[in-house]
Amino acid sequence: MKDAIVIALDGPSASGKGTCGRYLAGKLGFRHVDTGAMYRTFTWYCLQSGIDLSHPARVLDFLRQWPAELEVSSDEVRLAVNGKVASPEILRSDDVANTVAKLSPIAGVRVWMVRTQRDCLRFGNLVMDGRDIGTHVFPETPFKFFLTASDEVRARRRKAEGSAENTAERDRRDSTRKVAPLEPARDAVVIDNSHESAAVTAEFMLAHFESKRRQLGL
Ligand code: CDP
Repeated sequence: MKDAIVIALDGPSASGKGTCGRYLAGKLGFRHVDTGAMYRTFTWYCLQSGIDLSHPARVLDFLRQWPAELEVSSDEVRLAVNGKVASPEILRSDDVANTVAKLSPIAGVRVWMVRTQRDCLRFGNLVMDGRDIGTHVFPETPFKFFLTASDEVRARRRKAEGSAENTAERDRRDSTRKVAPLEPARDAVVIDNSHESAAVTAEFMLAHFESKRRQLGL
C-alpha cells in the first residue's frame, strides 16, 4: 500500500508514546506499531540463544537466521517468532530492559529493524512509535510528533506502572549512540506533556493531524 499515511511518534521512555499512539490509532482506524517491542523481542531471543552479546558479529549471525515475521492482531502490528508473539511480561522483564539498549545501537540490527518497520506499510495507515521513526524510518512523512516529559514525571509514571527500572541509563544510551540517536526530527511537533494527561495530549495530536491532513489534501 504505497500511499499509506504514517504518523511518526518518537520520544524517550515513559513520555507517553505508547498510550498516545494507541489512542490515535484507535480513533483513526490506523494500525499501531510499537517498534520498541520489536527491539525487545529481538533482545529476548538473543538472550534465550545464549550467544555472546558483547560480540556484534555473533548478534548479526543470529539476526540473519532469526525466524521472525510481521503479523497483525487487534490492529497492532507485531513480530512473531516461529508463529509466537512474546508476552508483555517477557518484553518488560529486567533482563530485556537491561540489555535492549546495548543491542539497539548495532548498525546491522538497526538496518534490519528499519527495513522491517518500513515493510509495515503493507498493512495500511500506521501510527508508529519509537526513537527514530521521524528521523530514520519514515523521514518523508509530514506527520511527526516528539513527546517529552520531565525526568521526575517519567520516573513517577514508570513507578506507577509497577516498573522498578531506572530508565536514565537506557535513555542516556539511546540519546548518545552514534547510529540514529533519540532526537526530534527537524519538522517534528515537540510536545512536553509533563503536566497533562495522555488523553489531552492525544486529542491535541489528533486535532493537529486532522488539520494538517486537510491542508495537504490527504
Ligand atoms: O517503553 P520504553 O519507551 O521505555 O521503551 P521501548 O519503546 O520499548 O524501547 C526499548 C528500547 O528499544 C529503547 O530503549 C531503545 O534502545 C530501543 N529502540 C530503538 O533503538 N529504536 C526504536 N525505534 C525503538 C526502540
